[in-house]
Amino acid sequence: MKKILVINGPNLNLLGLREPELYGNKKYPDLVKYIKNTAKELRLKVKVFQSNEEGKIVTKIQRALNRYDGIIINPAAYTHTSIAILDALKAVGIKTAEVHLTDISKREDFRQISFVSRYAFCSIFGEGFSGYKKALEQFV
Ligand code: DQA
Repeated sequence: MKKILVINGPNLNLLGLREPELYGNKKYPDLVKYIKNTAKELRLKVKVFQSNEEGKIVTKIQRALNRYDGIIINPAAYTHTSIAILDALKAVGIKTAEVHLTDISKREDFRQISFVSRYAFCSIFGEGFSGYKKALEQFV
């Protein structure tokens, strides 16, 4: 069974509360449940991690070396700022899919740059929770 690490960045723990007109009414635990159930259906082993801290995300990526076959990452706001997360992904060389709940290509100018997109083999934008399903399917 392939092992996939799902990493969610800052403020995604506030799903349901934060800007529901953009991110919907479902809560973060609903997303975790959705990811775990989908992974089970696809016969993938999954670990879901969320942090509001860039360094903790970098450390999690570093520790994934030799432990995971794939990474699915929604770096949230760090998408647009973090070269450290990009460098960590490059360093470990683990196949990585990028997911965003909203379509960042159609939002504010400052969301148009994704550093992680430079490494990810696929980027899924604007499909809500099902973006994570699409990403998991990439590893089947
Ligand atoms: C997000 C988009 C980012 O621009 C934003 O900062 C987030 C969530 C998304 O999933 O649509 O926190 O990554």
